Amino acid sequence: MYGPNGVLAITLLKKILHKLTFLRSLKTRIFLLLLVVGLVPCVIMRYAILQNYEQRAVGIRTSGIAIQLRILADHLITYHYLQDTSSEVINAEINQLSVLYDGRVMIINSDLRIVKDTYGISENKTIISEEVVRCVKGETTSKYDRDNGYIELTIPITETVASDESEAQPKTEIVRGVMLVSASTDSIVATLDTLSRQALIIEAIVILVIVVASVLGARVLIRPFEKITLALDKAQEGYTDDFICVTDCIETEHIGDAFNRVLGRMKVLDDSRQEFVSNVSHELKTPLTSMKVLADSLISQKDAPVEMYQEFMEDIANEIDRENEIITDLLALVKMDRTAADMNITEVDINVLVELIMRRLRPIAQKRDVELVFESVRPVSAAVDEVKITLVISNLVENAIKYNKEHGWVKVTLDADHQFFTVTVADSGIGIPEDSLDHIYERFYRVDKSRSREIGGTGLGLAITRNAVLMHHGSIKVESTEGEGTTFTVRIPLSYIGE
Ligand SMILES: Nc1ncnc2c1ncn2[C@@H]1O[C@H](COP(=O)(O)OP(=O)(O)O)[C@@H](O)[C@H]1O
Ligand SMILES: [Mg+2]
Repeated sequence: MYGPNGVLAITLLKKILHKLTFLRSLKTRIFLLLLVVGLVPCVIMRYAILQNYEQRAVGIRTSGIAIQLRILADHLITYHYLQDTSSEVINAEINQLSVLYDGRVMIINSDLRIVKDTYGISENKTIISEEVVRCVKGETTSKYDRDNGYIELTIPITETVASDESEAQPKTEIVRGVMLVSASTDSIVATLDTLSRQALIIEAIVILVIVVASVLGARVLIRPFEKITLALDKAQEGYTDDFICVTDCIETEHIGDAFNRVLGRMKVLDDSRQEFVSNVSHELKTPLTSMKVLADSLISQKDAPVEMYQEFMEDIANEIDRENEIITDLLALVKMDRTAADMNITEVDINVLVELIMRRLRPIAQKRDVELVFESVRPVSAAVDEVKITLVISNLVENAIKYNKEHGWVKVTLDADHQFFTVTVADSGIGIPEDSLDHIYERFYRVDKSRSREIGGTGLGLAITRNAVLMHHGSIKVESTEGEGTTFTVRIPLSYIGE
């Protein structure tokens, strides 16, 4: 729209404006705003009032002179002045007029010859100017020369005569000559100057008031913001538990509230991290403690039978497997906590993927006598991170098998619309109590802690699942009835939406 040079100029201007840091200060902005609001009406009013005064003054002066001149014109005719300029009375009258208006009066006859000039320099000369010529034809003209400070007026000197000898005929006016008057407007200019000076003084006072008001006003307006900066600095230094509360104005209250929410969230995150670390330590220690007990009892028993060694060593191997499982899950979870940059998005055939997972889990299902069913409504292909989606589906199916009943079933359904694909994992298992439903995605959470030992599992599976779903900007939902079964529904966008 602007062309390359225009764009360059705009960028440069933006940079310069950005460098002018004082313009970004709220104080400067308040000052400039007040200045504009205060000064603009002042200037407009001054201009309008002075302009109006000048027009009116010139108009009044012009009409005043015109009246005087018309009276004089009658006298000129009466005294036949155009033919004979010796009349003392008329000369005195003309001089008086020129003195009165601080100007020049010229009487011109119909031959355009100047018969009288109060300056006495142009008498008997012929004058040919547009105004005079127009005036000879009966037109009155007036002109205001602002730069040189005078009003020029031409008035025809007319005589009324009966056009015919008979009285009945209408009378006509015949132009016998012209009066040309230049009157000074010095007094008007002087008044204008005085008015203008007064207006300037008022403007100066307004500026002064604005400066004082903006300095004081800015200080009052800025104070809450300075307070909040101070409070934020304090909070940052010492990670205080105090909430920020600057109630001086609504805006700062909002800033404070927003910050308090961030602070609250930070505290929650901090707490959950601490809890996570202590949970991890505890979970990792449990198998170690068992192994230690098993090993100690073998050591303390001299001549223990080989069968006992065999049995205890098996237990120790199981504990090592468990430790391994926890660490694997933890690593998977940590990976899920990373950013979207770690996503490895490829186009994946979800039907094939689900079938693969089912085939891998079928032996476990058979061992527990659980029937595994896959129902695909349509072929689905989506842009996802294959590893993460595999974790999601296998975790859900694994749980559905693990927390099932004898002769139970697990049904996996795959469907899609134009935006999302949906994987539903339904089971005929033990179900999840309602008050546990909110917690199942928490790390290390298990509904029945005592049973988990025989069933296995780390309590990290659903945490990993949920994170993987969220990383795909998808959603996960659970419905469960205790003793009847559970249904997990996962919805993932068909095409990955980056950050
Ligand atoms: N399909 C299900 N049926 C019943 N309970 C379930 C089901 N899926 C998960 N749960 C409950 O949620 C808890 C958390 O699951 P998860 O995070 O996968 O941990 P884990 O399977 O390792 O115990 C499980 O311990 C279990 O109590
Ligand atoms: Mg699990």
